[in-house]
Amino acid sequence: MNKLRYLILVFLLGVSTTAAAKVESYLVDEKSGLIMAPGWEVVNKQCNACHTSLIITQNKGNKAEWRETIQWMIDSQGLWDLSDTWEPVLDYLSTYYNQQEIDLTTFRRLPLAVEYQPPAAK
Ligand code: HEC
Repeated sequence: MNKLRYLILVFLLGVSTTAAAKVESYLVDEKSGLIMAPGWEVVNKQCNACHTSLIITQNKGNKAEWRETIQWMIDSQGLWDLSDTWEPVLDYLSTYYNQQEIDLTTFRRLPLAVEYQPPAAK
């Protein structure tokens, strides 16, 4: 019985490490700097026209934050409406460039706490 439990534990550990490894296994496109996970092409096609996509990899946010950044570009920087690519773009960005996954090999330090940041521009 104990041996069976041990085997189940070993099996489960194996499954969970494999699942974790899968998340990390996407390559990074050398040219754009984007993680080549599902949805990256639609971002690569639209988000390199005015600035380098490296500006994307330096920013992090959840879906609402990315929506706000993109809406700001639509309202004031001449970005087109993403129409049916809104969802895939937001899914990709909020999954692979989300706040929780700040990569301290790219960032020198964590962002300042909100109270130390300058007031938001109108
Ligand atoms: C029509 C031109 C245009 C396109 C296309 C465009 N952007 Fe931008 N974006 C801008 C401009 C202009 C800025 C301001 C650049 C600066 O401050 O140097 C900017 C800035 C940004 C920033 C930095 C925002 C900040 O708070 O500093 C991010 C992130 C960003 N863009 C992401 C994207 C993403 C994602 C896409 C694709 C959906 C995209 N951009 C497509 C014009 C564009």
